[in-house]
Amino acid sequence: MKDAAPQPVRLSEYTPFPFVVEQVDLRFTLAGAETRVHSKIRFAPNPAAERAGEIFLHGKELELISARIDGAEVSPVITARGLTCPVPSGAFTWEAEVRIDPTTNTSLDGLYTSGGMYCTQCEAEGFRKITFYPDRPDVMAPFRVQIDSDMPVRLSNGNMVEEGVWDDPWPKPAYLFALVAGDLRNFPGEFKTMSGKDVELNIWVRPGDEARAEYAMDALKRSMAWDEEVYGREYDLQIFNIVAVDDFNMGAMENKGLNIFNSKYVLASPETATDTDYDFIEGIIAHEYFHNWTGNRITCRDWFQLCLKEGLTVFRDQQFSSDMRGAAVKRITEVMQLRARQFREDQGPLAHPVRPEEYIEINNFYTATVYEKGAEVIHMLKALVGDEGYAKALDLYFERHDGDAATIEDWLKVFEDATGRDLSQFSRWYSQAGTPRLTVEEHFKDGTLTLDFKQETKPTPGQAQKQPQVIPIAVGLIGPNGNEVAETRVLEMNKSEQSFEFTGLSAMPVASILRNFSAPVVLDRKLDIASRAFLLAHDTDPFNRWEAGRVLGKEVLTQMITEGAAPAPDLLTGLSRVVADDSLEPAYRALMLGLPSEDDLAQTLFDSGHVPDPAAIHAARDALQDAMAAEMEPILASLYEQMETPAPYSPDAEAAGKRSLRGACLGLLSRRDGCARAKALFEAADNMTEELAALAVLIRHGQGEAAVQAFYDKWRHDRLVMDKWFMLQVVQSSPETMAETVKSLTEHADFDWKNPNRFRSVLGGMQANPAGFHRADGAAYRLYADWLLKLDPVNPQTTARMTTAFETWARYDADRQQMMREQLERIAALPGLSENTGEMVGRILG
Ligand code: BES
Ligand code: ZN
Repeated sequence: MKDAAPQPVRLSEYTPFPFVVEQVDLRFTLAGAETRVHSKIRFAPNPAAERAGEIFLHGKELELISARIDGAEVSPVITARGLTCPVPSGAFTWEAEVRIDPTTNTSLDGLYTSGGMYCTQCEAEGFRKITFYPDRPDVMAPFRVQIDSDMPVRLSNGNMVEEGVWDDPWPKPAYLFALVAGDLRNFPGEFKTMSGKDVELNIWVRPGDEARAEYAMDALKRSMAWDEEVYGREYDLQIFNIVAVDDFNMGAMENKGLNIFNSKYVLASPETATDTDYDFIEGIIAHEYFHNWTGNRITCRDWFQLCLKEGLTVFRDQQFSSDMRGAAVKRITEVMQLRARQFREDQGPLAHPVRPEEYIEINNFYTATVYEKGAEVIHMLKALVGDEGYAKALDLYFERHDGDAATIEDWLKVFEDATGRDLSQFSRWYSQAGTPRLTVEEHFKDGTLTLDFKQETKPTPGQAQKQPQVIPIAVGLIGPNGNEVAETRVLEMNKSEQSFEFTGLSAMPVASILRNFSAPVVLDRKLDIASRAFLLAHDTDPFNRWEAGRVLGKEVLTQMITEGAAPAPDLLTGLSRVVADDSLEPAYRALMLGLPSEDDLAQTLFDSGHVPDPAAIHAARDALQDAMAAEMEPILASLYEQMETPAPYSPDAEAAGKRSLRGACLGLLSRRDGCARAKALFEAADNMTEELAALAVLIRHGQGEAAVQAFYDKWRHDRLVMDKWFMLQVVQSSPETMAETVKSLTEHADFDWKNPNRFRSVLGGMQANPAGFHRADGAAYRLYADWLLKLDPVNPQTTARMTTAFETWARYDADRQQMMREQLERIAALPGLSENTGEMVGRILG
């Protein structure tokens, strides 16, 4: 018999839980397949809800051994979702014992084992796989946990009462529960909080990895200090533990007092980690730490409010990284990522609001829209109310909602109350999906510049009509001699069409519009090549200066693809000047040398009425890079020498910036020097950033065979480095043979496909090679789908996330569309397909 179609959960149907939980006591007996969980939970009627004569507790894949209410045995009705049991009218104590098997839990959700250690992942709904419980974020309770096990290290949330016994005084939802037990070593540290309390810090790793936790520890201390300085938020327990685990579906998790990390975002040494790895470690350590206030002390009422904690915490980690590493470079990389992930999502069948209104599987809604657009919405809010208004609103938020499970309405209300602003129209950013397209026309007459703006958002699934949104548009003006004649002013657009004037100008300026990317919109502006080149040379807003080069690059590439045009000289000379300008930071100049991605170009072509040809896009980018290399060879060659960083390696932003410019130069120079520099660098490099940059170039130019083998021999025992080895071969493979490369890598003895990092390295690598993925014969589509079919029964969460490789099918020609749909339908037809993947595939097919 076929299962009933899964029913969506709806925001409009929220009701409070009829009980409050006063105390949770858990006792774990960790014994492999015979693991037992004993729970004792004190319930009382919830005064804010209707009285109930029975209780429903979530539970999944649990074997109930015994259940008691106030000491008397009970026999609840058990289904696949949980249990229901009659209860007394007042407060009562529920006691249960269940058996679970962490050793066969390959979903990495709930309690599982990884490399001999026990660990948990409970967000969003994993706690119900540990014991029967009201597994919803608005049920908050203090937890006490006892871990019986022969493992030397036993950890849970809160403060340690005695060996293996933990007490967390702060009421928390079950999704923040965590437990770890294993043979682990710690990298210790300490922190004195602003009120003078000492906090013990530990980063727990596998034996032998201790030395690689130093940078993460340093990032943690800086995060703690930053949150005190900038937000006035102090840590609230005596101890803070971080554990690194090799098998993990996500990046990291903010469990109260016990963050659990994918080892890739903790462990780093100069020889094994790249500058990008260091950057991510810093940002993710900060992110999870910042959740202690934005997520844990104030949590979400229900999962529709996910952006309340994730959007805000991303915004906070972005502010932190910006303070640590430089605002301009950070903003540019944020926007590149937003466009690559969130705009892509918003333009396709998976488009949804920052606060979705229904879901089948909540794990499918940890999306770029919730996270990154969620952060952009706060960025706009801050621009609209000003820095002081923002600080006041945040203080009020922490004061008013500490200990609450809150909503987006609560969040917006603190801004209204703190600043007196009406945010009813602004709130559409949370409910309306899609990326607004902002069109602008410019007129200059009698010393007045008029900007006529129009905003339009295309229909998205389930939302045919769109209302105008509040769009903060930061604008500055550059005079003919290249000086700024009007400083940045934030125009507030709130109608479909609206004009703004700049008066008293002595000559026609060039407007710099949407400075620092003041709103997550697509700006549609007809501007001649000369004016773009002018902004590239003179814009005083570093983001828009970069953007001018990027738009120019996109226009040039579009003309090359659609008209067979030659690379425009304005772009080449404009870029050379910026790249040679020593007054600009190296990291910024490196970004200038980057071109719009193949995926971005495919979407741009589609938006302008063309059918993108992935091979032609790839060829055009190649041709433009050849032209850049030819035009700039002398500058690149001298920069390559100048940007050499002295040993010993340091991961700081300045040194990393030099290496990124050097790497960009290397990439282009290899088109001229037969890879001579890359070969030399591969031999000489004493750090992973340069070793990998050199290897990438060699593979890309078909000269990587020996280096690939040498790299393998050197690093075969290091899992994190081997992930890079696998990925690079896929990403840098020539598009024609990528599918074959992937096939042979999946047959490699080290391809441990049940490990999410390894799986993502190879299969996820395919997405980073669009011309290879979209190969005309569909071989890559088939291969990709084969592997999703194989992974789904083992790890539905990771499978479901990876279906997004197909979310852009509607952009392409009829043949490709049909081939992609065929693969999606094949996946949909898998008997026993997970709800996770089923929901995604269904939405992508539309
Ligand atoms: N709360 C999430 C982890 C999570 C995500 C749990 C999805 C369950 C389902 C955590 O705070 C997070 O957002 N992690 C990100 C990294 C972060 C820096 C954006 C991740 O894991 O990708
Ligand atoms: Zn988060």
